Amino acid sequence: MQENAHTSHYICTVRPSRAKALGLARAEIAALLRDCDATLPSGGPLSERSGVFWVGLPDVHAPTLEERAVRLGYTERIEELVATAPARRVRPGGPLKWKGSWYEPLSVWESDRKEMRVSSPDMRDFALRGEDGVVRSAHGYRGDGSSLGPKALPVPDCRLLLNLVFAPDARSVLDPFAGAGGVVHEACRIGYSVTSMDREPSVAPGLEGFGSAHHTGTADAMPFDRESFDAIATELPYAENRPQIIGRWTQEMLRVLRPEARCAIMCSIPQRDLIAGAAHRGAATVDVSEEVDRRGVDVAVLVLRR
Ligand SMILES: C[S@@+](CC[C@H](N)C(=O)[O-])C[C@H]1O[C@@H](n2cnc3c(N)ncnc32)[C@H](O)[C@@H]1O
Repeated sequence: MQENAHTSHYICTVRPSRAKALGLARAEIAALLRDCDATLPSGGPLSERSGVFWVGLPDVHAPTLEERAVRLGYTERIEELVATAPARRVRPGGPLKWKGSWYEPLSVWESDRKEMRVSSPDMRDFALRGEDGVVRSAHGYRGDGSSLGPKALPVPDCRLLLNLVFAPDARSVLDPFAGAGGVVHEACRIGYSVTSMDREPSVAPGLEGFGSAHHTGTADAMPFDRESFDAIATELPYAENRPQIIGRWTQEMLRVLRPEARCAIMCSIPQRDLIAGAAHRGAATVDVSEEVDRRGVDVAVLVLRR
């Protein structure tokens, strides 16, 4: 597994709820380390386990991995393979033999379940404007239950979307379908300058409360100049499948994105094909197109690059 003396190798374990979405977990880490010459070998030790993949990284970038790992959504554990003396036998959690050499898996980072839990929609306070115009605190707001309305996205998925559009110099991010603010909450926590939109006026106070510059309105016609944002991360309302509308939203997202910037979209499977078609017509590249089973509902994740 040693490519050269200055490259270390890491075993990454995907959180059990997303273990089937290995392609996305790999794409997430590749994006988060896009300035670090990371490689993603197709095989490695412990391949008998599900939800495991491998990363090769020049040692000079090891501090960057440790610094950025806390942002990860789909991966929950990273171990470095450290060369060790031959052991008499293999035991779980102990030294392991791979391609004739012995390695000790050394923990580099593990997801903090408590921190993840505290950030989750059911633990957050969200300021919601009622039909009477009065703003009330809605603890644990997860959406209005309608097919086109707000529905809070779990934290691992919000982090995944933001990591897929990571660029070292990206400062501003837009979520044009912000809903109950899962992506906005995470983006503000990381320190992005966040802008959001939603056509539903009730969610405006909550999104502003998280720290976003919020606009109530429709993504069919966004009130932003072209090339305004370094990144877009968003989750579409899954029930909208009219080709014209999806085409229009895609066009608008590409219009407000800076050249070479990326847009990560979680959407339904039918929406994915409509978005990819509109992206090609708009001369954008589809960098990632993967499916993920979210509690029995198949959705897709796309990354477009302008
Ligand atoms: C799936 S939800 C987004 C949920 C969000 N990711 C979260 O974590 O809460 C989609 C959102 O799109 C909004 N929406 C629907 N049509 C829209 C449009 N034309 N323009 C802007 N927002 C729209 C809905 O009100 C809903 O809040």
